[in-house]
Amino acid sequence: MTETIALGTPAVRRPRIPTRQGQGYFIRTFGCQMNEHDSERIAGLLEADGMVPVDRPERADVVILNTCTIRENADERLRGYLGALRAIKRDHTGMQIAVGGCMAQKDREGIAGGAEWVDVVFGTHNTHRVVDLLDHAAEWGPITEILDETESVEAMPSALPAHRRSPHTAWVTITIGCNNSCTFCIVPAVRGREISRRPGDILAEVRQLAESGVTEVTLLGQNVNSYGRDLELNGRRPLFADLLRRVGAVDGIRRVRYTSPHPKDFREDVAAAMAETPAVCEQLHLPLQSGSDRILAAMHRGYSAARYLEKLAMAHRTIADLTVSTDIIVGFPGETDEDFAATLDAVAEARFDGAFTFQYSPRPGTPAATMDDQVPRAVIQERFDRLVALQNYIGLQRNQRLVGRTLEVMVEGPSRKDEAVVTSRTRGGLPLHVDGKHPAGSYLDVTVTRAAPHHLLGSRLP
Ligand code: 5AD
Ligand code: SF4
Repeated sequence: MTETIALGTPAVRRPRIPTRQGQGYFIRTFGCQMNEHDSERIAGLLEADGMVPVDRPERADVVILNTCTIRENADERLRGYLGALRAIKRDHTGMQIAVGGCMAQKDREGIAGGAEWVDVVFGTHNTHRVVDLLDHAAEWGPITEILDETESVEAMPSALPAHRRSPHTAWVTITIGCNNSCTFCIVPAVRGREISRRPGDILAEVRQLAESGVTEVTLLGQNVNSYGRDLELNGRRPLFADLLRRVGAVDGIRRVRYTSPHPKDFREDVAAAMAETPAVCEQLHLPLQSGSDRILAAMHRGYSAARYLEKLAMAHRTIADLTVSTDIIVGFPGETDEDFAATLDAVAEARFDGAFTFQYSPRPGTPAATMDDQVPRAVIQERFDRLVALQNYIGLQRNQRLVGRTLEVMVEGPSRKDEAVVTSRTRGGLPLHVDGKHPAGSYLDVTVTRAAPHHLLGSRLP
């Protein structure tokens, strides 16, 4: 079903006369890099219409909330924020509030019905129409427009103008949507079927970014290894491994990262492309989710713990100095002490450099939400704390091996805590704090002097 109101062609197709010259906008983003990237595009569209960013919602004519629904706490945070905005809007006549993103896509009534001070509710498939929707709401009153599917390439975030947060790094969308069916995950329901962007379009964007001073790109997709399955070029399917090599060969691009591959589809050809393309960083985010085969099967992940560990070993063999991070869910329905022990064993064997650990959160509409044997909160918390302690210990050991080594970093900017220090990132993606003032975007060789579980400290060579 598609619920929409015809408002003419998408904003990006016709030249617009900027109608909101000088108005301020404020965007609050919840959730993942995909959402961060969508928000950059929304900012780009608003700026194309004459608007300027402001640093607080109190100063804004338009406030956009880009929402997430992957776990329950994201929902709760959004509710709190919406409540605060209601009070601000009361004192600001003419202010417009728009709520977009995954939670809006999933729960249109929940937002529009519960918060009558919201002017526009839009979904993940019509981000490109945000300005039209705001205009419509200004004239006709609140509007909800949720499309069930992406209708056109305009909706691909990278096809829109962007206001990027950093002039040196950029996200580049290569696929949207996901064709997998992990039983805990709401993403397929909100982001839809997988659509790949054509390699020529991706490369054109990367070249353009490089010309504008970007040296690091991160390729984004829910399952980058299935890139190209829906495309055919000259009789063959484009492969992610080839795309990595081609992006890595673009003049001016010094670092290529990507997120995320799915372990079931991660193969030698991609590892070889990583090893053989100097610009592609030695960094892999490979979500394990659980170390128990029983739970992995119930999650529909399509691999066993042993198979995952084999692929990880293959990656380490092929790519020297690889830094690996993962995602793990604790307390999936039916997880016993034995299943959880298997997760701890897998983590101990994998020796990840970092892990994003999550407490299972039932998402209405997903198969896992109605499974028997939901694990009590207190049990999840206790297992979660043990997992975090183990990973912190391993992460610290992994980072300690780097003390004394000299690594190339790219400077991100002054540290938030200490002005005499800059925050930078290694090729492996680890944050490294360096003494001294160095311009954002510059590349330095830094000797690591200290290690912590989640970051490194270092100083420049004399
Ligand atoms: N509960 C907890 N964690 C989840 N994730 C996705 N869905 C859920 C859920 N329902 C985690 C997975 C995924 C990451 C982005 O979020 O680990 O890899
Ligand atoms: Fe969700 Fe699984 Fe698709 Fe990742 S691969 S977005 S966890 S369904």
